[in-house]
Amino acid sequence: MIRQAPYLRRLIQTSLSKVSTRCLTAQAASALRDSEPMFRYEEYADIDWNNLGFGLTRTDYMYTSKCTQNETFQQGRLSDYGNVELSPAAGVLNYGQGLFEGTKAFRGEDGRIFLFRPDQNAIRMQIGAERMCMQSPSVQQFVDAVKQTAMANKRWIPPPGKGSLYIRPLLIGTGPILGLSPSPEYTFLVYASPVGNYFKEGVAPLNLYVDDQFHRATRGGAGGVKSITNYAPVLKAISRAKGEGFSDVIYLDSVHKKYVEEASSCNIFLVKGNVISTPATVGTILEGITRKSIIDIARDIGYKVEERSVSIDELMEADEVFTTGTAVSVATVGSITYNGRRVDYKTGDELVGQKLYKTLVGIQNGTIEDKYNWVVQIS
Ligand SMILES: Cc1ncc(COP(=O)(O)O)c(C=O)c1O
Repeated sequence: MIRQAPYLRRLIQTSLSKVSTRCLTAQAASALRDSEPMFRYEEYADIDWNNLGFGLTRTDYMYTSKCTQNETFQQGRLSDYGNVELSPAAGVLNYGQGLFEGTKAFRGEDGRIFLFRPDQNAIRMQIGAERMCMQSPSVQQFVDAVKQTAMANKRWIPPPGKGSLYIRPLLIGTGPILGLSPSPEYTFLVYASPVGNYFKEGVAPLNLYVDDQFHRATRGGAGGVKSITNYAPVLKAISRAKGEGFSDVIYLDSVHKKYVEEASSCNIFLVKGNVISTPATVGTILEGITRKSIIDIARDIGYKVEERSVSIDELMEADEVFTTGTAVSVATVGSITYNGRRVDYKTGDELVGQKLYKTLVGIQNGTIEDKYNWVVQIS
């Protein structure tokens, strides 16, 4: 069978998706189904939508664009999802020159599809690229690539209330380089996977462990950008904590071993009285897009929000603690264990974090008015 250009293929796919099976003869439907995987006309992929965790599900398409060290990224293309070929000397393999992002596509009750602040991911990737001496896509290219990836994999966007399509943009040094210097070529790649809850606890409160031995980042390092090099070093702390039954780890600052930084893949907030506090972004923690959004929502509904140094002692004394991130959304923390002492926090539907969570999710799935213009409708 002749393989069409991805664009043409997508057009055919889109048209076919509008053709209900009832309009096709059984023979035509089976011919379509058997001819090529590209001819998929079902609205939803055939998976168990009720049991999505945060695991990788192979979807249909991915987006790729390449450029050399002295060029800018041009329009990329969609291709079938699959393995990528790399030189053994690729900058990303040898020196970890790589960044990633995470954003989600949501399906509203009425079938419309939304992205949440993808421009912020684009800007964060550009800041990271500058830090890691890489070329980066423009904001418009980034957002367009995310939209194309979401729409090409539309049948993998979970039904409303079942989860979301997690979209993973990657920027990696793919050119061969032996000496320690920036890669001569960069690849911007976007793939996606349907996901449910990030933590195995689902929406149950998290039990966090404070690790004062392993640090995630140091002043002057790259903790403030989403470099791939920030993640493998915390695997040991995470596996140790998970092995002891905890959900995740809270890291402390590496100088005083006293101030709270963040969890492995999310930012942290505490509530004391009517004040919400969260560690300030001073280059060692990631400036989360969910963090920023929650701060705005909280201020708008009347809370005082402070971004400042938060000591571990203060966190242990809080009324309520929650974490934020694209993958976790807003997650209630049920307990924190530090230095052999466990503190349990208030949990339940009436929490400040839950109120903020419901507002955020409502904006994301189109049931609450988006007065911030955060949501981008893509279909
Ligand atoms: C270390 C870390 N902190 C915080 C976050 C939350 O950031 P965001 O809200 O942009 O997903 C993430 C996830 O991207 C992360 O990896």
